[in-house]
Amino acid sequence: MYQQIVILTGAGISAESGLRTFRDQDGLWEEHKIEEVATPEGYAKNPLLVEQFYNDRWQQFHQGDIQPNAGHLALAKLEQEFEGKLLVVTQNIDDLHERAGSKRLLHMHGQLSKGRCPRSRQTFLLKEPFGPNHTCTCCIPAQRLRPHVVWFGEMPIGLDIIQSALDTCDLFIAIGTSGTVYPAAGFVDTANHHGAKTVDVNLLPAERGSQFQYHYKGKASEVLPMLVEQILQGKMISGQVD
Ligand code: OAD
Repeated sequence: MYQQIVILTGAGISAESGLRTFRDQDGLWEEHKIEEVATPEGYAKNPLLVEQFYNDRWQQFHQGDIQPNAGHLALAKLEQEFEGKLLVVTQNIDDLHERAGSKRLLHMHGQLSKGRCPRSRQTFLLKEPFGPNHTCTCCIPAQRLRPHVVWFGEMPIGLDIIQSALDTCDLFIAIGTSGTVYPAAGFVDTANHHGAKTVDVNLLPAERGSQFQYHYKGKASEVLPMLVEQILQGKMISGQVD
């Protein structure tokens, strides 16, 4: 039924794998100041504090019990079995989508597993948390790598690819995102504008004035396997499950 699907994921899809979201109760932004740990200005002022913030995330991601959940696995299955075009755009810097098997994936806010040369923008895979020895091999003198994450005030990655996928998709699904950070929060408007069906999956009920046509209230790990089966069976999404 559908030909082109764009999926946007946020911290909520990884919550059931044990990773903290940003804005829920006990979210990361309750404990850390955005301007200190997630802006270029914060990094210029105190790089060690910013590195520590991402190193803490690193330690958490590399605990043995952090695994992709049924939500990540359902999206990987959709990618494998869906015959049309599909792009998963994630705001998450964890690698749980990859570990579930997703390949047509774009990390619009960067990846924790990489450092970036501030001069050439070349990225380097990191095998361990950030430290003073993490320098690039592309410049002379070698530059200290910065986290390959998009901070507030910086341009997200791959916007041109995302934009053209949104322009032509016929189904847009947002999963586990509060829709507070732009430009990701505006993708639903673009998809609506181009006539796509727009669906939101969230633990919370639909917000008043939501731009989404359909809302599925529930855990990503429970809603997604059901939604993916529906798509693969060629059924139109038409229900509002609240
Ligand atoms: P938020 O923490 O803002 O929102 C998480 C959303 O997931 C909330 O709407 C929850 O209700 C929902 N949620 C929680 N558990 C869920 C579950 N099991 N199933 C379904 N939904 C669930 O996280 P994001 O929207 O991803 O950017 O945040 C967007 C950006 O803000 C992040 O990428 C990060 C942050 O600041 C940067 O740092 C640039």
